[in-house]
Amino acid sequence: MLSLFSSLSSVSHFFNFTKKSDIKKNIEILRREISHHSQLYYEKNEPKISDSEFDELFHLLKKWEEKYPELITENSPTQKIYSPKNYSLQKEKHIVPMISLGNCFTKTELKEWEKRWKKILEKEEISLFSNEEKKQKKRKQKKRKDETIYIVEPKFDGLGISCVYEKGKLKRAITRGDGESGENVTENIKTIASLKKNKNSIKISSDEFEVRGEVVMKKSDFKTLNQKMIEEGKKEFSNPRNAAAGSLRQIDSSVTKKRKLSIFFYEIPLEKNINELHIETYAETLQLFNEKNIPHCTQYFECNSIEEVFEAIEKIEKMRTDFNFDIDGAVVKINNYQLRKKIGTTAHHPRWATAWKFPAIKVTTILEKVEWQVGRTGVLTPVAYIKPVNIEGVIVSRATLHNSDNIEEKGLMIGDEILLERSGDVIPKILQCFPEKRTGIEKKIFIPTQCPECGNDVVKKNGEVALRCSNENCKKILQAKLKHFASKKAMNITGLGTEVCNALIEKKLVKTLADIYFLEENDLYEIGNFKEKSVKNLFSAIEKSKTQDFWRVINALGIPFVGAGTAKILAKNYKNFAQLMNATEETLLEIDDIGEKTAKIIPEFFKKNSHIIHQLQKKLNTPEKTNENNGSNVKNGENGENGENKTLKFTNKTFVFTGKLTQFSRDEASEMVEKNGGKVSSSLSKKTNFCVCGEKAGSKKTKAEKLGIEILNENDFLKKIET
Ligand code: IVH
Repeated sequence: MLSLFSSLSSVSHFFNFTKKSDIKKNIEILRREISHHSQLYYEKNEPKISDSEFDELFHLLKKWEEKYPELITENSPTQKIYSPKNYSLQKEKHIVPMISLGNCFTKTELKEWEKRWKKILEKEEISLFSNEEKKQKKRKQKKRKDETIYIVEPKFDGLGISCVYEKGKLKRAITRGDGESGENVTENIKTIASLKKNKNSIKISSDEFEVRGEVVMKKSDFKTLNQKMIEEGKKEFSNPRNAAAGSLRQIDSSVTKKRKLSIFFYEIPLEKNINELHIETYAETLQLFNEKNIPHCTQYFECNSIEEVFEAIEKIEKMRTDFNFDIDGAVVKINNYQLRKKIGTTAHHPRWATAWKFPAIKVTTILEKVEWQVGRTGVLTPVAYIKPVNIEGVIVSRATLHNSDNIEEKGLMIGDEILLERSGDVIPKILQCFPEKRTGIEKKIFIPTQCPECGNDVVKKNGEVALRCSNENCKKILQAKLKHFASKKAMNITGLGTEVCNALIEKKLVKTLADIYFLEENDLYEIGNFKEKSVKNLFSAIEKSKTQDFWRVINALGIPFVGAGTAKILAKNYKNFAQLMNATEETLLEIDDIGEKTAKIIPEFFKKNSHIIHQLQKKLNTPEKTNENNGSNVKNGENGENGENKTLKFTNKTFVFTGKLTQFSRDEASEMVEKNGGKVSSSLSKKTNFCVCGEKAGSKKTKAEKLGIEILNENDFLKKIET
């Protein structure tokens, strides 16, 4: 991982020194290391170690400084907030500093935090009040007794942001930066879809109203973005946080808009705002956010003892993979604002809140081999096959390697012992190898110069990191294209899986995507293993696919940069192939959400593939819908939006799905709802109409019950769809 330490375990042994001079020297090394990684993180947006590794380093330094306070220096990273030097966006000062949160890693640490704030409060109350005031306070405390002590909520793994509104309009959005001032990203923040929804935002007489929160990229949007980056031959983002940072700090806000960021607010920092709104607790603030459509996390827990806090943290950790955004812990906050004020803050952290950080799951294993896979756009992606390891009950045998540059940067070799990290449900990644453990039998990783499938030359375009097969007719590319064509979010042809696709191409029964619709039953008996029933099933699935919605057909074609989302936008604007094939770069650019590259490539694609499209036109029977109502359900923002369609059964109805669904997948359920005009949301609010609960539905179900939302099981849901 680190340039100075070969692994974190060696960092832990780092202080097994007896000599004070050695300790002093090594504390200095640790400080330099922390500064180096802060610089990579804040200035270059290219962290080389994970957040939890960084936290471990920071924690270690703190521990040693606690043990040897005489060695603390003014410039230690523990004593001052890191200050990035290079800015390209306008730098602006925060109204009040944006401090960060202290961390707890163990229950003992959390209990100590509780002891600390209680002690401060005791002292505060003894010294501050006169006898009369003390009496008043006691009366108030009685009232406070029924009030929740703590709110525990997820800790978003994103970027802190401050948004200042004037007369209900967003005037300024500034990143956290060094805490004192950050970068002005107002125009970029305005592109966030969920912010456009809060039309009846908070209007108060104060000149300014400030809310703070976190900008994140949803896991699904991250996946789509990285897919695009691969297709464009660019370097992928290593995680949603980096992708959010890279997207938020763009000079051109149209780039940010395409990247689809999300935001969650969690704080109103100005006392004058709180007073004017007459809110006394954080629970009331969240309630207000809910009423005013201010995006926030709806999954939080109200706790009245530290034991309840532990339970809440455990629940949040269990829910971690269910969230469509990354979280790296939980935040424990005191609910009452008066109490918060009394407890106060240090120069770095509020004393009234603390973060519980989840440990990133790390294991060591062996890199056994690397295979290069050719995708439907011709990009060659290295896949690491590792000695299978069990990470929290999941057997992991593969990991991402991204591209050849990454292999070289990490200096990996076949046979190396490697450190693997899996955080949340992100695909495991290789953090580092241990060159000192090599025995001499390790082998260099082969970087192909020829396509492993067709043998044609591999090319690396100028400025791209991706290696590509230069052969347009590469069999593997056609296999991948066909597999995509038949996939669930495209033509949804059940039975046309990888093996059948490969066999059809091998036997030359399919040379282009359109050939699927010219197959005859006898052809299928040629590809072995096919019995009468499976032939009939596949034929009926192919037949059924002929009437798929137009957006699915567009998606199925595999046009570069056009995934399901863009396909839905195109289908909203062009009702059939005849219209779409006539679209020019200029007319496409007029559509919101279609960028320059996509607008350029679509006419090129249709020109080059006109023969295939004509063949498809002959066979497909795509229902034509009016341009306003073409059944496209382009998801936008937090909850997904459906085109206004007053005639459908679930128009204006919102569904939330929770628990393990056994009769259909989440994607299938969303599709059923959206087809009927409804929308699916990941978060519950008063506005939710139905909460569909699968197996082991937990806190969402309880919350839905509390809110009086109609609860459905899977069968109830299916009945509703059918009737
Ligand atoms: S409250 C005084 N709540 O974590 C700071 N912060 O590591 C009050 N963060 O700087 C912040 N999720 O950017 C709060 N639910 C949450 C959060 C959260 C993520 C960020 C925030 C903060 C950083 C500290």
